[in-house]
Formats: sequence, C-alpha cells, structure tokens
Amino acid sequence: LREQGLSEISQAKTEEKLNDVRVKLVGRKSELTEILHSMKEVEPEKRREVGQNVNKVRDLFNQKLDDAKNEIVEKLVEEQLAKEQIDVTLPGRVTHLGVKHPINIILDDLENYFIGMGYQVVQGPEIETDHYCFEMMNLPKDHPARDMQETFYVDKEDLLRSQTSGDQARVLEKHDFTKGPLKMVGPGKVYRRDDDDATHSHQFMQMEGLVVDENITMGDLKGTLELMTKHVFGQDRETRLRPSYFPFTEPSVEMDVSCFNCDGKGCPICKYTGWIEVLGAGMVHPNVLENAGVDSNKYGGFAFGVGLDRFAILKYGIDDIRDFYTNDVRFLEQFSREE
Ligand code: PHE
Repeated sequence: LREQGLSEISQAKTEEKLNDVRVKLVGRKSELTEILHSMKEVEPEKRREVGQNVNKVRDLFNQKLDDAKNEIVEKLVEEQLAKEQIDVTLPGRVTHLGVKHPINIILDDLENYFIGMGYQVVQGPEIETDHYCFEMMNLPKDHPARDMQETFYVDKEDLLRSQTSGDQARVLEKHDFTKGPLKMVGPGKVYRRDDDDATHSHQFMQMEGLVVDENITMGDLKGTLELMTKHVFGQDRETRLRPSYFPFTEPSVEMDVSCFNCDGKGCPICKYTGWIEVLGAGMVHPNVLENAGVDSNKYGGFAFGVGLDRFAILKYGIDDIRDFYTNDVRFLEQFSREE
C-alpha cells in the first residue's frame, strides 16, 4: 500500500490529479481510514503496532502530497513568468495618429482669422427648410434663379441645403442692432445635384459670411475678401472680381483666384482660363433685410459664400476635388504637417 501510494503521488502532474490522489490515499474513504475503522478485528496485542504503522504511512503520504503540490505550484509560477517576460530592448510600436483633413485645416484657420476680427461663428442645419434657404433669401417659389442650384429635396418643405446662405436669415432675425453691428461666418456642408468632376462635387463645404451695420460699403467687402485671400494664399496669388448675379445680393460679384497649376496660361483644372472661381459675394439685398425684420433704410451690409474645397485645392495644389471625400489615407496624410 505504501509503495503503491508513493508511486501514485509521483505520477500526479497537475493540482487536480494530486487532489484526487489525496482523497484516495488519506481521505475519509481511503484504505488507511478503513484499516483504522476495523481495528476491532485485529488481535488486541497487535493493535498498537498496526495503528502506529497506519499513522506513519499517513504522515508520509501527507508529507509527500504537500511536497508534490509545492513543486507543481512552483512550476506553474515559473511557466507564467517565462511567458510574461518583457524584452525591454525591443523598439516600441509606433502609434498611428490620425491627421486633420485638409479642408478642416483651412476651416479652422479661417474661423480663427474671423473670430480675431470680432465675427461670431454660427452653424445652421444641414437639412434646411425651403423657407430659410430660399424664400427668406429673396427667392420665392417660382423664381427662375432657383435653377442656379440644383437642389435635393427631402420633401416639399425640407431640403439638403444647397447653400449656407440660410444662416444669414437666421442670424438677421435674431440680431439686436442696438447692441452693435452683426458680423458672422457660418461654415458647413452643402449639397447639389452636380455631376462630379475634378472641380465639382455633389457635396462640398461652404463658409457664409455676413456683415450688417450702418454705412457699410462695397469697399468694405472688397477689402475683407482681399485680406482673407492674402491670409490664406499669401501675397503672391492673384485675385479678380467679376460682376455676377445672386437674388440675395445687389450688386453681386464672383471672385476668382489664379490657377495654381498653369500659372495663368490655362489648363484643364481651370478650364483653360487661368482662373478658378472660389466665392460669390455682394451687397445684401434690401428684401433680405426686410424679410428678417431689419430696417433696410437704416442698415445695409455685405455677404459672401466661400467654396472651402476650392480654397483647399488652390492652397495645396490638389488636382481633383474628389480626393477630399474618397478618404484615401495616403492622400490625407500628406497634410498632417501643415500646421
Ligand atoms: N450662396 C451663394 C452660392 O452658393 C454664394 C453667395 C453667398 C453669394 C453670399 C452672395 C452672397 O453660390
């Protein structure tokens, strides 16, 4: 029994197996216990000797069981440590940081620029109402100029805004002119049913601008646009204003910036003109002021709407506007060091 028990202990290689062996050898139903229980059958003069032997074997079993258990636990700890070993000389893994989208770089910069000049930044809804996007902006339901902006309608009254100009009406309605002039920029996404090509996209970013006060002139508009373009592109890039038409401004202009690609000689990017149109602007139409409850005899102002994608194209020399939304990280990562 002794030899048999010792060999079973030495063969148990896991804690569970060892436990089983322990129950079998020294548990309540083990052979040893049984021997002790059946002492009555042993001749009285031999009882003492048998009892001593049984106890000796049980002590030996217990001792060996404990040793075996310690050995197993030690081995487990060693294995665990080996697994968790850290090689502190290995080079660290490089964390992949995201980068700012080029349009956001331009937008953040422009917002800061205008905040510095006392403008407030507003954000209108992307699903705009026909009321704010068009009617308040002097574009009644059957106005032919609605054709200028092929619009996605959600239903009869709601649309994916085709311009951020609705922001003008929203702030004009709220502004308290006794507290000072109104100066705001309103950036955001706009949508149009355009055929996508290198310079057109069905979704792009605009930034609306509006200044209303007493005695604002077209010279203020020109100066504001010129300073903004110089701020973004540096002193060298040329700009030009062309007369244009918008229902919510009178007179109206468009501003072009000289093409980055062909140095004014013409290429497919600028449709062989040497210029790229980047914004529409003009003096706020009296109807827009009156619609919002502002006295157009006392107050006047200018407004502009910048195409931020076009700004980004020109600033970074990008030759396809679609690169902005296809989100190829190889394209986007080029601008990470721009700030
Ligand atoms: N909303 C016009 C457009 O999207 C741009 C514009 C804004 C023109 C403000 C004049 C004044 O084309």
